[in-house]
Amino acid sequence: MKILVLNGSPKKKSDTFRLTDAFLRGMNKNQEHEVHVVHVIEKNIAPCRGCFGCWERADGHCVIADDQNEILDLYQSSDVIIWSFPLYCYGMPSHLKAVLDRTIPLIKMRMVQEANGAVRHEALADFSKIHTLVICGCGFPNWDGNFDSIRTMCNICFCNPDMLCVPETPLLNIPAAAVVADPLLARFKAAGEEYAATLSLSAQTVAELEAPMIPKEEYIRNVNGA
Ligand SMILES: Cc1cc2nc3c(=O)[nH]c(=O)nc-3n(C[C@H](O)[C@H](O)[C@H](O)COP(=O)(O)O)c2cc1C
Repeated sequence: MKILVLNGSPKKKSDTFRLTDAFLRGMNKNQEHEVHVVHVIEKNIAPCRGCFGCWERADGHCVIADDQNEILDLYQSSDVIIWSFPLYCYGMPSHLKAVLDRTIPLIKMRMVQEANGAVRHEALADFSKIHTLVICGCGFPNWDGNFDSIRTMCNICFCNPDMLCVPETPLLNIPAAAVVADPLLARFKAAGEEYAATLSLSAQTVAELEAPMIPKEEYIRNVNGA
């Protein structure tokens, strides 16, 4: 399989990417896949100009000549796309959002109405065979609402993708927390193996991967140094 990973963390040692890396090792355990990791922060990707020139061209490319067209080519030829990023202000980091905004060359102006009343643009080609997975880390402990807006956006933009929203991810880069971080990384590796075999994740696996590493109160106490 061809796997495109869009790493949206701006950091060299990304907490979230540690999870994604473990997941990829699991995916590659029984069979080596073709993995293409794009570190988005290293790319030259301008914000969308809103000109809709892409809809006039209708060739799956953006009129801006920068690195986004290479991503669009990879996007269309992938079997699996993994969006890996830290939660920033309840959404995705702005440089990754620019990548998402500039996927509009992959849709057309023409609108279609779903049976449930939702309206979407028609796709430029049949992308229904591409499997999307979102891996989102964050700095807060688990609390209702922290991931609500990113879940809603991803569900609409990526048509209900598999999604892993993981709290307390800074613990993954703290050596003293290895006792709780390593088991989570092992679970991500096992989940990658499951995903490579089935291209889906069971509700139980998702619950295990999203479970906090330590209790909320303990996490807050540690952050606050109390
Ligand atoms: C600009 C900025 C905004 C952030 N917003 C949130 C947020 O809304 N919710 C949250 O839980 N953590 C937030 N965080 C914390 C990061 O998600 C957290 O540190 C994460 O582990 C970083 O992952 P990375 O190492 O993969 O970049 C924010 C961090 C930054 C720098």
